[in-house]
Amino acid sequence: MNTLIESTVDVLRQRIAEPAPKIAVLLGSGWHPFADQLQDAVDVPYADLPAFPLLAVGGHSGVLRVGTVGGVAVAVLGGRQHAYETGEADGMKGAIRALAAWGVTLLLQTNAAGSMDPEMRPGALMLITDHLNFSQRSPLFGEPGDDRFVDMVNAYDPALREQARAAAHTQGTSLHSGVYAWFMGPQFETPAEIRMFKLLGAQAVGMSTVPETIVARHAGMKVLAISLMTNMAAGMQAEALSHAHTMATAAAASQRAVAVLSAVVQNLKV
Ligand code: HPA
Repeated sequence: MNTLIESTVDVLRQRIAEPAPKIAVLLGSGWHPFADQLQDAVDVPYADLPAFPLLAVGGHSGVLRVGTVGGVAVAVLGGRQHAYETGEADGMKGAIRALAAWGVTLLLQTNAAGSMDPEMRPGALMLITDHLNFSQRSPLFGEPGDDRFVDMVNAYDPALREQARAAAHTQGTSLHSGVYAWFMGPQFETPAEIRMFKLLGAQAVGMSTVPETIVARHAGMKVLAISLMTNMAAGMQAEALSHAHTMATAAAASQRAVAVLSAVVQNLKV
């Protein structure tokens, strides 16, 4: 095992008395209040975890918080490094591999996304059923060995998706389902790019999640992912797109998103 990952697992074992949780929840824009729901929480800054990235985007805490939600143990990642920050897709590779080495078996990802489905309005939640790696970057570039040829069929675990849907239902929320197109950014898409994504069969577009899914599947973890729609995609709404607009809509929708996420975590059979 790589030494950065080994030393990260050592720090986690020193700071957290309990065995590793089975579930890690990666928080994207709008989802951060979920971390406040944790009980018996222990915080470990990413800066203390050698395999973790240092974060730069506003709204991302850069803290790993380990605790329980309704009695279920979880490790919550307060933000990710995005490929648009460096041009590389492997910003979360070390962190995800360290979590897997520690004993985490499921990566539950959250993000903010633009909706390309007129029926799926800002504030709606979408279970990702599949993705389009439009950026054609991989966190596995340069990876040796035949296990780099990762099977991506059912990368977003169908059984876990059903459990998530049932849990959201108990909160009075019905989750949309759809394909997430990864656009590397950091600029938003053009209306022509959005028309292309729609033709290709995607319902949501965003700048994250896909590289982390690839790393997690390579590490043998299961993946579940939920997108919070913060806007209609480029050319589909009157207002201009901006990070401030994304964050404002995310904040308004976040209470319900967090309630759904808590219910989902408590209903997963891992
Ligand atoms: N495009 C890309 N990323 C996003 C968007 C969007 O419209 N909304 C939130 N993240």
